[in-house]
Amino acid sequence: MKMLEIKGGNPLSGTIRISGAKNSVVALIPAAILSSEEVTICNVPDITDTAALCEILEFLNVDVKRATESLVINPSKMEIKEIPSIYTKKLRASYYFMGAMLGKYKKVTMALPGGCSIGARPINLHLKGFEALGATVTNKDNIYTVEAKELKGANIYLDFASVGATINIMLAAVLAKGTTIIDNAAKEPEIVNVATLLNNMGAKIRGAGTSNIEITGVERLGKCFHEVIPDRIEAGTYVILGAAIGNNLKISNIIPEHIEALTSKLEEMGVFLDIGADYIIVSSGKDYKPVNVKTQTYPGFATDLQQPLTPLLTMCNGRSKIEETIYENRFMHIPYLNQMGADIRVKNQTSTIIGPTKLTGTDVVATDLRAGASLVIAGLMASGTTRITNVEHILRGYENIVEKLLGVGANLELKDI
Ligand code: EPU
Repeated sequence: MKMLEIKGGNPLSGTIRISGAKNSVVALIPAAILSSEEVTICNVPDITDTAALCEILEFLNVDVKRATESLVINPSKMEIKEIPSIYTKKLRASYYFMGAMLGKYKKVTMALPGGCSIGARPINLHLKGFEALGATVTNKDNIYTVEAKELKGANIYLDFASVGATINIMLAAVLAKGTTIIDNAAKEPEIVNVATLLNNMGAKIRGAGTSNIEITGVERLGKCFHEVIPDRIEAGTYVILGAAIGNNLKISNIIPEHIEALTSKLEEMGVFLDIGADYIIVSSGKDYKPVNVKTQTYPGFATDLQQPLTPLLTMCNGRSKIEETIYENRFMHIPYLNQMGADIRVKNQTSTIIGPTKLTGTDVVATDLRAGASLVIAGLMASGTTRITNVEHILRGYENIVEKLLGVGANLELKDI
């Protein structure tokens, strides 16, 4: 077990370079098994979610070579085996093996996925998509078997624009017979990144990034080289941190358009941002105005950034509101922020942050990945010492977070407990 000890109050300056996107790479790795040849993925973040997926590849006898920032995956000797829960429960994205193995072998058996406890997170839309392609789904003691004699293209309407279901259906449909249309598809940049990998492998996918994706099945997928896009949630987290305690803090290697919903909200608060082609420079300001935020699917305000934004809103003069519309249970950071001196009330799916308040360090728990990011920001803003336990959640999604923060002047240490 690890604990993060933060001595807050230092202004941060210098440059933080953003890594490859977690929510992209966690789909790209399972997608690679659809190829019959070697797939090279570069700009791969060194996070525990990546390691957990590589363990699944190795369990399936897929050859994986890790070099600096890149992964070379060769599935030519892959074995079809049931994937047990010791592997799948480590992360949500293990469910992408469902679509990928169904697509390639027409059969997959695996345990339920894990991931952050932030709501019910059913997978009914994924399964509905597989069934529409001709598969049958059985669930015995939480082990799913999805199989088909043949997968045939279909028109699939998603009741909700789910990121996971959109990607999983694409993975299952690329080698199916005929054309699949996903209507009301999710439009997140990670979906475009996955479609680009598949197209580089020889798939025929059009419309990724819009709500209507068309996949024409092909016979075979092959060798390719592909790059992971920058992590927009990591970028947003550090931009928020810069607005709180930055002194010309530069966040580099980003696609600013991917976090426009955040940057326009920050500008509404009165944060001055110097937005370049692939960077943002941000400093802490005074007299921030309160704002109202509602989380939405892309290009709306990302649910993954509402928790990191919350400590910044404690600096605003007045009442800010955050309405969470994607998950039922994404406010677990609030009691800890209140223990640190914030004045935040949660009713139904909305938190009201009453500011300005000063934060003071104390002992807190990272209940999930983005709750953890929120507490790191709060700890760096606070006076005194903050000790965060359950740091493992944070390490699932933020590459070298300690080194990156030390590099811009923060005072923190990861300790074994
Ligand atoms: N949903 C259903 N049925 C389904 C699928 C989803 O009801 O079959 C519901 C979920 O319960 C949830 C909503 O739809 O309430 C959104 O789910 P979605 O499928 O879009 O999310 P996901 O694929 O499970 C990914 C990211 C999340 C991110 C969301 C939304 C990965 C591995 N995870 O989750 O990332 O919050 O999209 O953008 O890509 C994180 O990084 O901290 C994180 C939780």
